[in-house]
Amino acid sequence: MVTDADLDAAVVVLRAGGLVAFPTETVYGLGADAENVEAVGRLYRVKQRPESHPVIVHLPRVGALDEWATAIPDPARALARECWPGALTVVLRRSARVPDAVTGGRDTVGLRVPDQPLALAMLRAFDGGVAAPSANRFGRVSPTTAADVTADLGDDVDLVLDGGPCTVGVESTIVDWSGPHPTILRLGGVARDRIEAIVGPVDLRIDGEVAAPGTMPSHYAPSARVVVVAAADVGAEANRSLAAGERVGLLALAGVAEGPSEVVVLDAPTDVDDYARTVYARLRDADRLGLDVLLAVPPPADGLGAAVADRLARAGGPR
Ligand code: TXA
Ligand code: MG
Repeated sequence: MVTDADLDAAVVVLRAGGLVAFPTETVYGLGADAENVEAVGRLYRVKQRPESHPVIVHLPRVGALDEWATAIPDPARALARECWPGALTVVLRRSARVPDAVTGGRDTVGLRVPDQPLALAMLRAFDGGVAAPSANRFGRVSPTTAADVTADLGDDVDLVLDGGPCTVGVESTIVDWSGPHPTILRLGGVARDRIEAIVGPVDLRIDGEVAAPGTMPSHYAPSARVVVVAAADVGAEANRSLAAGERVGLLALAGVAEGPSEVVVLDAPTDVDDYARTVYARLRDADRLGLDVLLAVPPPADGLGAAVADRLARAGGPR
């Protein structure tokens, strides 16, 4: 249980330029004072992330938007008002308050108000912007529990706030509205349908972009090789890997796929939202169980299904 004293301690660490891992509804973030260039530098070193890759600035309230961004299009503002707190990041022209360190030198900034009580309490008490990438080393599986953070980052974090498992489970949807037309750079916790219902059609540009590291082909990867397969092909794929002497696992929605008896069947998600909530935990299981190969059957693409399918494809991307 996180106490008020823990929250106070988190604020002290942030003010002192330290790093606090904190829960959000999507994944755990590794936070630093966005206006402290040295703290942000340390964040990049711990994360082992190239400095050219921008980080999201987390804000305590929608009303802080104008302190961190300028030239905000009306529909972008409407989208933020509608979806925040929530799993949406909006990329906008940055204000003078935003240092180069968090934007990789570009003139835009990604902003988000997370929908998690501890995160909001910490942000309100800190009363500033908290730069936070997911609290994992670059390219590895994103953390959805405090234990995941500690396993990956260990003593490199000054404080970990344990808010239990994340309720959404995949990262925020990123909408770039720094130009005239909105473009989704990363599928995530707010479905495209919901965004389009609020602001009309948005473009999708999630492949082959260096704009956002979460959009590189290989990301979110366990050590096990992830192979994305259709339910109908699970048997054939499994047999091929088993014949090669590999230890094979299966991840699929409950009841949609079956393999030979030698296949290790991971805990099956019950629906698309459950798949989103648990997908990173299952990727970690694949390594814990010593699998060589994880056959992953993506969920249908509606709702958060598109984001889950995206993460599975990237987990299976070329290394
Ligand atoms: O759900 C989330 O967004 C989580 C939680 C902690 O809030 N954070 C997260 O951060 O996923 P990270 O650093 O792992 O991914 C942030 C993504 C990167 O792909 C980055 O390139 C993109 O956001 N991004 C941030 N600022 C940007 C900008 N100004 N322009 C384009 N992309 C940006
Ligand atoms: Mg990440």
